[in-house]
Amino acid sequence: MRIDVISIFPEYLAPLHLSLVGKAVATGVLDLAVHDLRTWATDRHRTVDDTPFGGGAGMVMRPDVWGSALSDVLAPGATLVIPTPSGERFTQRTAESLAVSSQLVFACGRYEGIDSRVVEQHRRDGVDVREVSIGDYVLNGGEVAALVMIEAVARLVPGVIGNPQSLVEESHGAAGLLEYPVYTKPPTWDGLDVPDVLLSGHHAKIVRWRRDQSITRTLERRPDMIEALDPQSTDKADRAL
Ligand code: ADE
Repeated sequence: MRIDVISIFPEYLAPLHLSLVGKAVATGVLDLAVHDLRTWATDRHRTVDDTPFGGGAGMVMRPDVWGSALSDVLAPGATLVIPTPSGERFTQRTAESLAVSSQLVFACGRYEGIDSRVVEQHRRDGVDVREVSIGDYVLNGGEVAALVMIEAVARLVPGVIGNPQSLVEESHGAAGLLEYPVYTKPPTWDGLDVPDVLLSGHHAKIVRWRRDQSITRTLERRPDMIEALDPQSTDKADRAL
């Protein structure tokens, strides 16, 4: 997969060179480029924004600068992702849908956002455009949101994560439940014991205990996820909880 990020603060994207994503870039599993939007500005001040038509506070990013940048960076078949608090909510399902694209281009806006004609133009021209919010709060720009989305998407790309089983078991995976609590050595620490069942070696009991923990945790923390469960995916023991 190819990932491009366009921002007026390319240094903000430095964490993409660390950890699993950084390794995937270093080994060629991911092809990543971060671009400075000001490269496409045409005046000597390298201006990228202007005052909003209709008035109001703040500045809006100019469509001509974004238009030139995107026409240089977007390849055929790309998905254009625009992080914005007014976008569709980013979820694990969104990450899964983005993970199959050949190229993701993240257009990181600042100020009051990007002139709406940038989205209109690309949709009109048949580009897959996704305006996406990572949650109901307002950040100063799209960069941190792009980091979040890139990390969530990249780990779904084959070869980025060593053991693909870890993708199945984790929260927001196929089961539609939050993950059960996990423990490691030592078996007693500061007066706190690891639950006996995990030391029992009884595999079926461990599987049942973990599922019970997942369900009770999800009931407490995310009742909306329990509502959304497919009844076909639950068993009698689940329903007794
Ligand atoms: N830009 C500013 N706030 C944002 C949010 N919540 N999600 C995505 N992009 C943003």
